Amino acid sequence: MNLTGKTAVVTGGSRGIGRSICLELARSGANLVFCYAGNSAGAEETAAECSRLGVQALPVQCNVADPEDVKALMETALNAFGRIDILVNNAGITRDGLLLTMKESDFTAVLDTNLKGAFLCLKAAARTMMKQRCGRVINISSVVGLRGNAGQVNYAASKAGVIGLTKSAAKELATRGITVNAVAPGFIDTDMTAVLPESARTALLGSIPAGRLGQPEEIAHAVAFFAGDHAAYITGQVLAVDGGMSM
Ligand code: NAI
Repeated sequence: MNLTGKTAVVTGGSRGIGRSICLELARSGANLVFCYAGNSAGAEETAAECSRLGVQALPVQCNVADPEDVKALMETALNAFGRIDILVNNAGITRDGLLLTMKESDFTAVLDTNLKGAFLCLKAAARTMMKQRCGRVINISSVVGLRGNAGQVNYAASKAGVIGLTKSAAKELATRGITVNAVAPGFIDTDMTAVLPESARTALLGSIPAGRLGQPEEIAHAVAFFAGDHAAYITGQVLAVDGGMSM
């Protein structure tokens, strides 16, 4: 994959899947602006690792659910590099709980970060991409958005929403040379899933035909494919990277 000279904006790059996506895009030659919620040390580590790969990587602390923060994030990319070629909406949170006891604030927080955040970033980046008449948007959904999951009505709704957002935006932006696709990871080995109780992990493992957790790099490879030239005629698609979980 050759992304030399391209600019990528990645949300949630301080750890986990987002960090792997930053590193994979950097390895392919793209300069980066990435945001993170609060983990400055993690963000600095991502930036340093990207720099070692020979590209520029600028961390920005930002809440993707805040329109002013998102505006500043995109302005950082435009001021530094003059264009936005790739947007990866990766930032996400969970606030799990059963339907009958889930607090409204936990529902709203997850929708705000996972879905509204993706909407705000897509809207802001699309303006620039439309002027450029090219762009690649990759939204990170989830197997849970495809299948649902007990204890995650908020998260499942947000990730199913990301799929609707992806397909609708793909239809609106296709004539401008902009593709919008989604990657739906299965059960990936990150800090987000490390907090699951052992019993839940064992049950989940049993539902994965591949018999193992995915690694963040395996999601990053799919994202890089959608970002590259070989995916120019693919839009509005959802690629499950889940060891067969959603079959
Ligand atoms: P993580 O919790 O390790 O990292 C999340 C990243 O998002 C961090 O960099 C954090 O700073 C950032 N972030 C969180 N809220 C933010 C906000 N309001 N504004 C800006 N940045 C914010 O998560 P992980 O596991 O790397 O997941 C990444 C994405 O992949 C998420 O969208 C998640 O829902 C999705 N996913 C993860 C799976 C897994 O098994 N780990 C499975 C399916 C989807």
